[in-house]
Amino acid sequence: MDWTSHIMERIPASGTLKMFELANRLEREGRQVYHFEVGQPDYDTPKNIVDAAIDALKAGHTRYTPARGIPPLLDAIEETYGKRGIKIDGRRNVIVTPGAKMALFGGLYAAIDQGDDVLVLSPAWPTYRVMVRTAGGKPIDVPTSMDYKLDPELLKARANRHVSAIIVNSPNNPTGGVLDEEDLKLIHDVAEDYDFLVFSDEIYDALVYDGFEQKSMLKVDPSMERTMAISGFSKAYSMTGWRLGYAIGNPESINNLVRIQQNTTSCATSFVQHAGIEALRGDQSFIENVRAEYQRRRDRITELFCEIEGIQCANPMGAFYVFPDFSEYGLTSATLAELLLKMVGVCSTPGVAFGTDYDYNLRFSYATDMESIENGLTKLKKYLETFS
Ligand SMILES: Cc1ncc(COP(=O)(O)O)c(C=O)c1O
Repeated sequence: MDWTSHIMERIPASGTLKMFELANRLEREGRQVYHFEVGQPDYDTPKNIVDAAIDALKAGHTRYTPARGIPPLLDAIEETYGKRGIKIDGRRNVIVTPGAKMALFGGLYAAIDQGDDVLVLSPAWPTYRVMVRTAGGKPIDVPTSMDYKLDPELLKARANRHVSAIIVNSPNNPTGGVLDEEDLKLIHDVAEDYDFLVFSDEIYDALVYDGFEQKSMLKVDPSMERTMAISGFSKAYSMTGWRLGYAIGNPESINNLVRIQQNTTSCATSFVQHAGIEALRGDQSFIENVRAEYQRRRDRITELFCEIEGIQCANPMGAFYVFPDFSEYGLTSATLAELLLKMVGVCSTPGVAFGTDYDYNLRFSYATDMESIENGLTKLKKYLETFS
């Protein structure tokens, strides 16, 4: 008897697992590994947020909450978007979920019919394609440049009446590139022409540099007729393990998500939701400080990459990733990533994980300390010089 359902064929084992296992083995052997593969902030959650969670636990906030989320958190999300000039009704347009991942999964599940095409602006977080397939849809990549610059003609060429949605993600994982308001408008216009939905993953929107302000897709679709914005607390407030995210959309779409949540996770963790209120309403200086530090690291890591002959590296304006192009070295990304890890202990993520068009790129996360950036990249440079 085979106990595995057909749906599991749509959920591949993690493409980066091999790198993790190899890195662990090398570390057990006493080798130094520079971790550039990590996709989470390297800071602890700010103390005021931790204290709010402890207070909420002590106050007995340990039971199920409404599936949609606790009203004061919905109100705090409404307030936060209001300050950015986006008018939403927290109690009708928002659902709080255990992480942005669940918001996206529920949103796609509720919207995709069997066989629907779903455009994915790529390179893209691998989870999008898995989620689309699991929901019965067919992901179709719309490639962008190494720093996520949109090709309007390509987008129009890939759009058609079989498309039910597009997934966009700015600031982007893995490139760190951003979409400006004009790009967002163009995507929305194409979606309107072909009558499909826009899922806008905005989880990195607080991590932007050089004074850039990331506009929400909600700005170009204020009625939320065809837009669902997804965000959360993981990246902005260093709360990856807390599992707290949300979706914002029209009441019908959000109610669908509420029904899914009622029948799956029930709700986001109750005391974590209370901590979320403190995150949004409390002191925001943490974000300012982290942003300044990430900008410093981004400047340095791109500078070091640009010093290496044969590598092209953009200086992206958001998130904490760079996605340099190593095509001059002639090795595909999984082979190169493994080689760099074995030879100089530099652990990165192969570009192919983010789309087949990116098999000569590697993703480097700079959510790591400056010393590792300096030492890791110096070793990388020395090793790559032996290629010529
Ligand atoms: C683009 C993107 N969206 C969503 C997530 C997950 O967010 P959360 O921790 O809120 O589920 C990640 C995490 O790596 C991500 O890179």
